[in-house]
Amino acid sequence: MSAINVGVIGCGYWGSNLIRNLAELPAANLMAVADLRKDRLARIRSRYPHVWATEDYWELFSMPLDALVVATPPLTHFRIAQDCLEHNLNVLVEKPLTTNSQEAEALIEMANMRGLTLMVGHTFTYNSAVQTLKQLIHSGDLGEIFYLDAVRVNLGLFQPNLNVLWDLAPHDLSILLYLLESEPVMVSAQGADCVFKGMNDIAYLNLEFPDVMAHVHVSWLDPCAVRRITVVGSQKMAVYDDVENTEKLKIYDKGVSAAASTDSSHGLQCSYRSGDTVIPSISMIEPLRAECEHFVECIIAHKKPQTCGVAGLKVVRVLEAAERSMYHSGVPEIIDWVPVQWLEERCAKRQLDAWPARAEAGILDTMLLGEGVLGVRVES
Ligand SMILES: NC(=O)c1ccc[n+]([C@@H]2O[C@H](COP(=O)([O-])OP(=O)(O)OC[C@H]3O[C@@H](n4cnc5c(N)ncnc54)[C@H](O)[C@@H]3O)[C@@H](O)[C@H]2O)c1
Repeated sequence: MSAINVGVIGCGYWGSNLIRNLAELPAANLMAVADLRKDRLARIRSRYPHVWATEDYWELFSMPLDALVVATPPLTHFRIAQDCLEHNLNVLVEKPLTTNSQEAEALIEMANMRGLTLMVGHTFTYNSAVQTLKQLIHSGDLGEIFYLDAVRVNLGLFQPNLNVLWDLAPHDLSILLYLLESEPVMVSAQGADCVFKGMNDIAYLNLEFPDVMAHVHVSWLDPCAVRRITVVGSQKMAVYDDVENTEKLKIYDKGVSAAASTDSSHGLQCSYRSGDTVIPSISMIEPLRAECEHFVECIIAHKKPQTCGVAGLKVVRVLEAAERSMYHSGVPEIIDWVPVQWLEERCAKRQLDAWPARAEAGILDTMLLGEGVLGVRVES
């Protein structure tokens, strides 16, 4: 099996990590990189002399590429990903997939029409500790899940044109949706713009999933770096601490049960349990490497990615609802999932496997007809 040819658009902080991982993958041949910044391209040229480096990503479309990875700022994701798909290239787009759901839907439709892979960089769902946590939840080891609490705070990095919700919460939301295999029916959010007026730097989200509640706290204004998810169950409790170097996941045999007695004259009757703490051994594979490997594998095997376009859209819909709630001082927002279900059904009906050959033969063309509306031209 020959390697697929890959390019990267955007070689800033995260793009450089993607480039390092893609360059090491036997199943990928890193051919080209584009970035607006000459200094960043110079670094790529000195490190990877065989890689074509250019300021204009359109140059990449005349190269024999199979796939592109988009690691530019979120506001540019839609335009660039759309250009990639229009050139029949498979695409991995960094989180958040887009900055509104109409754009995410348009990308999903377009990729599906052309039989191309569209994947979103929800990197934490490729983390072995998160995957083990999911197994713990679904095996019933933790008992009935009472609630989940996610905290992602640090001092900075402030992002231009993007509040903390859209910068940091995609990580926690993608983890929560992945862990629970369900979507929140309601979200309420509050935030504050402490440093730059109009740009929220802290946000608190309350999410109501069908059977469980979850809470997300994101901040660029905290003295301590915390990236932690706590899952509290009726039998055990688990903490995933991403800041920990090795012991990322801990399972606590701790709990409280209400005693059978209804006599409240001596206060609440509780029985506390505090047993062993187990630290499962976790694979040390870099999550971003696993994500890149998965992207390449999905293209080669024509498989649906774990973090497909729809997974990206779901996170975008929660972010939109949370933002609306935030601007109405925390008024709860119901999230309507019916349009997403319809989109998934439409995509499934198109029989994915039938399309690539048609697109290759040049008999199928898709056009965006205004915001989020797709038209299809089939040449006879
Ligand atoms: N999955 C993760 O864990 C993770 C972590 C960090 C960032 N990210 C995401 O990665 C993306 C990039 O973030 P970053 O921190 O690397 O930002 P960055 O600012 O360091 O890098 C972005 C790069 O994109 C380039 N760029 C912008 N417009 C371009 C264009 N039209 N053509 C070519 N290059 C262009 C910029 O010059 C810059 O070098 C964002 O979407 C961010 O949300 C994901």
